[in-house]
Amino acid sequence: MARKIVAGNWKMNLNLAEGAALVKAANDYLNANPVKHIDVIVAPPAHQLVQTVKLATNTKLSTVAQNMAAHENGAYTGEISASMLVDAGVELVIVGHSERREIFGEDDALLEQKLHKALEHGLYPIFCVGETLEQRKAGEHFKHIENQLQAGLSKFAADQLPQIIIAYEPIWAIGTGETASNEQAQEMHAFIRKHLATISNAAVADEVSILYGGSVKPANARGLFGQPDIDGGLIGGASIQIDSFLELIKIGEDILR
Ligand code: PGA
Repeated sequence: MARKIVAGNWKMNLNLAEGAALVKAANDYLNANPVKHIDVIVAPPAHQLVQTVKLATNTKLSTVAQNMAAHENGAYTGEISASMLVDAGVELVIVGHSERREIFGEDDALLEQKLHKALEHGLYPIFCVGETLEQRKAGEHFKHIENQLQAGLSKFAADQLPQIIIAYEPIWAIGTGETASNEQAQEMHAFIRKHLATISNAAVADEVSILYGGSVKPANARGLFGQPDIDGGLIGGASIQIDSFLELIKIGEDILR
């Protein structure tokens, strides 16, 4: 069975004190309300990774980096390597968020390298895929997602795939307040799982966590998390406010199975 996950992606938000307060609130909540069914993870900006790892030691919380370099180490000013993330105690890394693809020009070939580098270092990548509104309107969304999955994952052996978490994040739903309907999200998640089965097999595809992202909030999380192929959420805006993040953890634990 796939791991169920409630993940907060803070993007370029929160200072050290604000980040610490959010992590402490999540720790306190999880101590008072232990979760059995989900993993709770947070992705702070790079300057907070060490602090977050420390605050999350011996807690139910894991730390995710928002990005990493495809290269091992060396003269790459401004980059952070997989071995540095491991050194900092980070366990997971987001790869190919649409903001990295669209704003920073990260292409399929680079993201494939990053995925392999992450696995080489024992990091769990959260590999993001998603279509634009134009692609959806033109009916090209399935083909586009298939191409992104194929480009990123086709060279992995079947036994490596369950170490990769997929996040389906339709670009038109990210930070817009607009969410995919439960049916639209489920339809795409089922499509992704079917595609994973063609790269590996059905048993392996069932082991892969497929998260939904795009304006997830307490008001819509129950419906989305209740879909059979949705294994949790990658949550931006609603994850940087303590109340809504704790509410999302509660909903995840109630609903995700
Ligand atoms: P959002 O962001 O929840 O603010 O739409 C999700 C994401 O980009 O991961």
